[in-house]
Amino acid sequence: MTPRKVAIGAMFVLVVIVAATLARQGRDAKPLPGHSLRYLGERRGVLIGTAVRGDVLRGNRAYRQLVAEQFSTLTPENEMKWETTEPTRGSFNFGPGDEIVDAARGANQDVRGHTLVWYSQYPAWLNDLSAKELAAATREHIQRLVGRYAGRVGVWDVVNEAIADGGNLRPSIFLRRLGAGYIASAFVAAREADPHAKLYINEIGAESIGPKSNQLLELVRSLRVAGVPIDGVGFQVHSNLRGVPDDFVANARRFKALGLDVAITEADVGLKLPADEAALREQAAVYRTIVRDCLAMGCKSLTFWGFTDGRSWIPETQAGMGAATLLDEALRPKPAFLAVQQALAGR
Ligand code: XIL
Repeated sequence: MTPRKVAIGAMFVLVVIVAATLARQGRDAKPLPGHSLRYLGERRGVLIGTAVRGDVLRGNRAYRQLVAEQFSTLTPENEMKWETTEPTRGSFNFGPGDEIVDAARGANQDVRGHTLVWYSQYPAWLNDLSAKELAAATREHIQRLVGRYAGRVGVWDVVNEAIADGGNLRPSIFLRRLGAGYIASAFVAAREADPHAKLYINEIGAESIGPKSNQLLELVRSLRVAGVPIDGVGFQVHSNLRGVPDDFVANARRFKALGLDVAITEADVGLKLPADEAALREQAAVYRTIVRDCLAMGCKSLTFWGFTDGRSWIPETQAGMGAATLLDEALRPKPAFLAVQQALAGR
């Protein structure tokens, strides 16, 4: 082959690769109406966030554009969980987390690190450790992760879902082997690794005043009294058409009264599928309440657990449920999106 033919061949291959990449990345996002959520949130002093999926962020241009345009804080949906970040002991896989942190930097967004110590999605090798080894491994895990992202991840969900629905500490490998002190130790380790990051405890189903939130309140109160470095409480607010409990704001204010920040960290509103117009309208009303509650309690941030029905954990994990987010599968705004905009604008 002549050099000329080689060059033409190489050019051809390059064009095919570029075309294939562009095709995979898809089209530009259709513009959403009105002001962006991040702009509206900024005017109220609240960061607006979404959980993101690294693979979709990489591969889908419209998704990536909307993430950058609409949100001021990102939470990696799975990419910073222990099973992903340290699949075998001492060998860390930061790639998926780095990708999201880099994207966030490019779009001038904060990142919520999620999550360091949780009863779920941890690697199996933890099961083989003695109590002493587990304590050391947990400390090392926290320090490596928080240390790596110091200055780039502003907030950490240090401990996730520590309380059971009945109000006791939730059974987990950590509670069983390390005792209740695992919670304080996790916060101490995180603070050491990044003195500037805001450290949160994050909880599911603790919106109303009751055994679970009472226990959470007692826990954080005792942590504060003991001088444990904890800055905030995250309420996940995974919700449905039953709506958000009426006493959510009153409940959250109890935590604020202890001097803690509060945030909504994983909001979504699952519907029974197929969702009709009436259900979508009711869903919009629930979202409106979530925004109003967040503003009323003085939340630092409001993060949605995904923003498109095409990429949401609800249909993936709850049979017959879905349509839980602000945009439909084609990234078109649902009534919920407009309701969130209006509520942020104070209407
Ligand atoms: C979920 C993810 O969305 C799913 O993709 C994954 O399969 C399971 O975890 N509370 C949390 C989140 O703190 O980490 C969970 O995320 C949803 C419930």
